[in-house]
Amino acid sequence: MANLIYSNYTIQIMKKLNINSICSREIRDKKKTIRSHQLPIYPTSSFQFDNVEQGIEIFKGQRNEHLYSRYGNPTVDAVADKLATLETYGLDIEAKAYLTSSGMSAISTVLLALLEKGDKVLAPEDIYGGTTYLLRDVLTDLGIEYLTTDFKNTEQLEALLKADKQIKVLYFETPTNPTLSCVDIGEVTEIAQRFNRKTVFDNTFCTPIIQQPFAFGIDFIVHSTTKYLNGHGTSISGVVIGRDIDFMKEKVFKRIILLGTNGNPFDAWMVNSGIKTLALRMERHSENAQKIAEFLAQHPKVNQVNYPGLTTHSSYDIAKKQMRSYGGMLSFELKGGFEAGLKFMNATQLCTIAPTLGDVDTLLMHPASMSHQGIPQAIREKHGITNGLVRVSVGIEYADDLIEDIGQAMEK
Ligand SMILES: Cc1ncc(COP(=O)(O)O)c(C=O)c1O
Repeated sequence: MANLIYSNYTIQIMKKLNINSICSREIRDKKKTIRSHQLPIYPTSSFQFDNVEQGIEIFKGQRNEHLYSRYGNPTVDAVADKLATLETYGLDIEAKAYLTSSGMSAISTVLLALLEKGDKVLAPEDIYGGTTYLLRDVLTDLGIEYLTTDFKNTEQLEALLKADKQIKVLYFETPTNPTLSCVDIGEVTEIAQRFNRKTVFDNTFCTPIIQQPFAFGIDFIVHSTTKYLNGHGTSISGVVIGRDIDFMKEKVFKRIILLGTNGNPFDAWMVNSGIKTLALRMERHSENAQKIAEFLAQHPKVNQVNYPGLTTHSSYDIAKKQMRSYGGMLSFELKGGFEAGLKFMNATQLCTIAPTLGDVDTLLMHPASMSHQGIPQAIREKHGITNGLVRVSVGIEYADDLIEDIGQAMEK
């Protein structure tokens, strides 16, 4: 359904602005119904009909109006449109977005729209754990085969696509979680397009402020908006954005309404509030992460620091090509291994131990014992997820306070 209240007028004006201004500008009600400065929340499951005839026309699709919130809701649709505007910022393309109930539902919805029994999906081994489990344990049960390869090895990628026509979708993310290794997005999409395959890309770590996958030829973008887009840890939600508007309106929308993976007005509103400060936050996240990465890189108790903004990081050149700044995520390996990792985390005072990322406060996670405990040690270590690795979602606090806290915890 087209956005009935908030759409085109506002979006067209927004397109002329700098991305920072788009973030902070409130979405306006084009009908000027009650002139609310802030986007209202419409907490309603359905929309009433003035009479039976109107109801029948809306049901038949003869009138483009709201019907039932699983099919569309003014708050939800407005935020989806804003995210499509941000992901297409500065590009001469249009995109359609739908909010979903979580990042995982955005991923599963778009994959279920693109793949059917007998098809294959190809992804690197080092993607978000939940996505790996979805591909390995759920899609496989539906007859969709899951294959893995290293997307940095483009020769091998090309050979796989040449040899196997059943590979319909290439799914990836960069930088990866938690080792911040980067894949050249443009190289992958060039190969995918040559073999007429679709690409789905998770842009959660960067947001469109730092990296715009559509600029490098990606077909579908997903986000866990739970993370940086919300920024305050107050909602679970997701979004799927696609450049093929017809495919989005037919295939993706149909799955959203029939699987019930739609977003809801409260979470959409939380995400909208978060987006207003997104550009500012991403700038500070990146600045702080750079300072902390440099501090850790010279620390005697640290073996290795994974941050794409460090010139010594193996992905620095790729990151520089496709990221405007290097983001708020980093990880580092303590020389003392498992015990040292846990001891360090328990000794911090300003940082918080929590299994999420992208919030305004600094969060720590121990992948070997938490997010990746279900992945065999050999595979985990092959991707640098060692026992002493600590993941940091660097917040927007004063950098020196964070460095002092990390420094004191290291000495405990
Ligand atoms: C990169 C990435 N993608 C997707 C997800 C899943 O998002 P959600 O928890 O909103 O379903 C996560 C969650 O941590 C994530 O880190």
